Amino acid sequence: MAGGQLRTSLLLTIATVCLSWSANAQADTDPYTAVVLRNANGVQADILPIGGTIHRLLVPDANGKADDIVLGFDDAKTYQRGNSPYFGGIVGRVANRIANGSFVVDGQRYTTDKNDRGNTLHGGFNPFFENNTWTIEEASNKEVRLSLLSPDGTQGFPGNLNVTATYTLSDDNTLQLVMEATTDKTTPVNLAQHSYFNLNGQARDTVLNHVVYINGLYVTPTDLNQIPNGELAAVKGSPFDFTHPHSIGERIGAVTFPPPFGGYDHNWALFGLGTDAASKTFDGVVSEEPKLAASVYSTLSGRAMDLSTNAPGLQFYSGNNLNGSLAGKGAYLYPQHGGFAMESQVWPDFVNKPSFPQSILSPGQLYRHIWSLKFYNHTAAPAPGVQTASIP
Ligand SMILES: *[C@@H]1O[C@H](CO)[C@@H](O)[C@H](O)[C@H]1NC(C)=O
Ligand SMILES: *[C@@H]1O[C@H](CO)[C@@H](O)[C@H](O)[C@H]1NC(C)=O
Ligand SMILES: *[C@@H]1O[C@H](CO)[C@@H](O)[C@H](O)[C@H]1NC(C)=O
Ligand SMILES: *[C@@H]1O[C@H](CO)[C@@H](O)[C@H](O)[C@H]1NC(C)=O
Ligand SMILES: *[C@@H]1O[C@H](CO)[C@@H](O)[C@H](O)[C@H]1NC(C)=O
Repeated sequence: MAGGQLRTSLLLTIATVCLSWSANAQADTDPYTAVVLRNANGVQADILPIGGTIHRLLVPDANGKADDIVLGFDDAKTYQRGNSPYFGGIVGRVANRIANGSFVVDGQRYTTDKNDRGNTLHGGFNPFFENNTWTIEEASNKEVRLSLLSPDGTQGFPGNLNVTATYTLSDDNTLQLVMEATTDKTTPVNLAQHSYFNLNGQARDTVLNHVVYINGLYVTPTDLNQIPNGELAAVKGSPFDFTHPHSIGERIGAVTFPPPFGGYDHNWALFGLGTDAASKTFDGVVSEEPKLAASVYSTLSGRAMDLSTNAPGLQFYSGNNLNGSLAGKGAYLYPQHGGFAMESQVWPDFVNKPSFPQSILSPGQLYRHIWSLKFYNHTAAPAPGVQTASIP
């Protein structure tokens, strides 16, 4: 057989296998049964087809004792009942806010769900990504690849969007999520992983004692409804300055905005990006490979994590809206600041802010956002680039 023919028949075979595999996978998927990833050090990640959700994440502490460090629900069905504050899921099509649920792409105005004080939050009502069953395309105990087809018009967005989400757990204690998308009509895309963490264990009080480093020099100030005003505010000398590590609780009392509770729920411009950000980002990312965006540790458990991403922004949320009414795993009532989220993404309302990094996907292009967590003991040598010299 000539090389060309061989390749053709191989491709056909692969295509046939994939198609039948995919059909089987779809039929067999129980959206509430997790795919369990495990590594050699006792780290375990349970990934649910519903929402592409990180349901459980077990990480050993300084004494080798594993605890579940993500907030969530024992019953996987609870994630889609509408009272989950986006626990563990992948949000989209456009994470964060779109002012007035309105934007123009390719000269045409589109209207998206107004599910947050007149604006769109995380795509809109019936949160498509976290409330839908992803298809398991491939699964092993190291990696799971999920796919989701978001039909043209979902939440008001143009284009059929094909999305894949691949979670990989490696023996260096890295849990990496790669989110990819293609479209058949030009459309804004901004996917984000929305897990809430408590490095002391998901049912262990607040995260105010956690120490945070963020690799960003500016935040994007907003109005009362958390829509950016288009400006950048330098973090230097403010409670938003995490270029040297500070505990979450240390200055949170001075963060009275946004109402009604205040607390951290802001977008950081990562990697030294400033007013030049739009010219330094392409298709929603700053680089092909992820770079260190943030580090967090708790001295109580000794657990530490680095978040690396190739996205230009980080929404750091300190669980301000939790209030002790929501019963999570083990019937634990999550208190205010009972968890934090580190949502790498494109900046909020970018689609209405031409000076912000843009993530407008056209047919033939690939959206590829990486959100990668590495876990270690905080006494261990810091990752290169982390300014931890002052950490006790
Ligand atoms: C932390 O150290 C303990 C004791 O050596 C070890 O068992 C555990 O796996 C380490 N945890 C991480 C996340 O590296
Ligand atoms: C949203 O609506 C308000 C008032 O209705 C208007 O002032 C503002 O310019 C609008 N924003 C966008 C991005 O269209
Ligand atoms: C999620 O989907 C379920 C089943 O389709 C539906 O009953 C529920 O209302 C949806 N939840 C939200 C928050 O839209
Ligand atoms: C999306 O996936 C479907 C089914 O696999 C395929 O037919 C279609 O061409 C894909 N569209 C894009 C834009 O990738
Ligand atoms: C607590 O939060 C829930 C969910 O956001 C809300 O429905 C409830 O009214 C809040 N309770 C109080 C006492 O604020």
